[in-house]
Amino acid sequence: MKLKMMYSFLNSDINAIEKKLEETIQADSALLKRASLHTLQAGGKRIRPVFVLLAGKFGRYDIQEMKNVAVALELIHMASLVHDDVIDDADLRRGKPTVKAKWDNRTAMYTGDFIFALALELMAEINKPLAHKILANTMVEVTIGEIQQIKDKYRFDQNLRDYLRRIKRKTALLISASCQLGAIAADVEESIHKKLYLFGYYVGMAFQITDDILDFTSSEEDLGKPAGSDLLQGNITAPVLYAMEDVAIRIEIEKKVHENMDPSEIQSIIMLIKKSGAIEKSILLSDLYLNKALQILEELPANKAKKTLRDIAKFIGRRKY
Ligand code: IPE
Ligand code: IPE
Ligand code: MG
Ligand code: MG
Ligand code: MG
Repeated sequence: MKLKMMYSFLNSDINAIEKKLEETIQADSALLKRASLHTLQAGGKRIRPVFVLLAGKFGRYDIQEMKNVAVALELIHMASLVHDDVIDDADLRRGKPTVKAKWDNRTAMYTGDFIFALALELMAEINKPLAHKILANTMVEVTIGEIQQIKDKYRFDQNLRDYLRRIKRKTALLISASCQLGAIAADVEESIHKKLYLFGYYVGMAFQITDDILDFTSSEEDLGKPAGSDLLQGNITAPVLYAMEDVAIRIEIEKKVHENMDPSEIQSIIMLIKKSGAIEKSILLSDLYLNKALQILEELPANKAKKTLRDIAKFIGRRKY
């Protein structure tokens, strides 16, 4: 089943969110407006707002409140992508040139900041201190995660725990925050919103591990963003860490992957990693988190949202884009 089909019962609310996203990105500055709209209209899976809405279904679901939170979470995600493409020097995102490619790095930095600020403006409508605490903390952690990744580039002495800590910060926490904030906005009781947080955390971990696998196994065409560039840029992800358990492969990677490496060498190293069984091990790691997510779901009250969360978690494990 296609991702969008899984939550088709939310269609009218999703459409309202799309509309509000466009309305929100209005700026007096023509450049900020153009660059933001460019990123928004390029599309994306909108998985974070979907999590917000689904979590809200466990409580008092008021579309006006839900809309503010859902749009804010997608905007924070979008802003982090605009900045991420500067950090990763990426020219393609959602099948379109990135802001940094179409304009330049400075424009991307301002555009990202602008989109972040719009998200905060929307969140200000939510009269719940806990929601603001969680969101602020999440944004701090995402930033630390992205910076940590820069620090950890080409560091071959890192282990799986370093990697997991990093992806928790840069990706999983925003997805867990989407689930938890959607629930909090709908006045869901604490024991339930904490479970939704945990569900989002596990799903988020699987989501980033899968993203890191796809960087090895997929294509620019399918992903709408560059493939094969993580290792070229020195980012040590799960497949690399597993492949390096083999000493011969480790020596080869340490010798060939460095800041001034010859990009033409990367294909043979990618092949080496793919043949090592590291992709299969990474899939098992992702499945481990997905199974934990599915277990937590069992503890939630039965409703349509729960079933959809289950479908989406399963989709994430076999996603191709
Ligand atoms: C990309 O997120 C960044 C990661 C956390 C891997 P998505 O894969 O959700 O990006 P869009 O929103 O669908 O473009
Ligand atoms: C994305 O990580 C994490 C954040 C945007 C914070 P990636 O760098 O792997 O995301 P993609 O592959 O560019 O979407
Ligand atoms: Mg990145
Ligand atoms: Mg990136
Ligand atoms: Mg990636």
